[in-house]
Amino acid sequence: MNGNFVDKRAIISPMTQPRYFALIPAAGVGARMGGVVPKQYGQIAGKALLQHVMETFAATPEIEHCYVVVSPEDSFIATLPAVPRTTILFCGGATRQVSVTQGLAAIATEVKPDDWVLVHDAARPGLTVELIVRLITAVAADPVGGLLALPVADTLKRSSEQGRALETVPRERLWAAQTPQMFRHAALLDALLKASAVTDEASAFEALGMQPRLVEGSPRNFKVTLPEDMLLAERYLKGSA
Ligand code: C5P
Repeated sequence: MNGNFVDKRAIISPMTQPRYFALIPAAGVGARMGGVVPKQYGQIAGKALLQHVMETFAATPEIEHCYVVVSPEDSFIATLPAVPRTTILFCGGATRQVSVTQGLAAIATEVKPDDWVLVHDAARPGLTVELIVRLITAVAADPVGGLLALPVADTLKRSSEQGRALETVPRERLWAAQTPQMFRHAALLDALLKASAVTDEASAFEALGMQPRLVEGSPRNFKVTLPEDMLLAERYLKGSA
């Protein structure tokens, strides 16, 4: 052993077009929602948040297969209707980063090193097929990868510990990151294994000096975090927002 890791898949894989897979981390407890079920299982427009997301990926022809990462103790996923071309992986961990990393490791036999993986939060039910296709179209030829994000519109303040405005942070070229975040399987697994405590995939690449492409997302693709967010998400899904 000379210590150099060789990804054997790169040697045995025939030269084929990269494919697109979805990976949905859904192993969080959603503490800020304060509900009795984890927030990905909260109901909006008659379905669990996670169900909306799984169905959106299943309705996107470009997506080969969708993998959902839940906690090994998850007892809610079995209550959701099955979705075509979707597999549940019971390998979630203590943080989102661990859940994604373990999900990527679990699918390494089915996915080639250069296949793209679109990682999407279960808590963003406003995702549409059009947004997925927009991301794929913009990033498919990119050497690094990319993510949906929104230019920041508000004036930003940094606060003191006492909740007083200390300074205004210039908002030029500031974006709020969304998901999906799309990277090649082997590169993403490697970046996440090297990264310390990141809250999204793009930061793991930034830490390695790479610059993921920013692709304009949509306000409807916001992350449901607080109980009142459920109403807004429902309005987007019913087309009334
Ligand atoms: O908690 P937060 O809203 O940031 O979580 C974002 C996504 O990551 C959610 O879909 C959540 O279920 C998932 N997650 C996970 N494993 C964890 C924590 C969060 O899969 N340990």
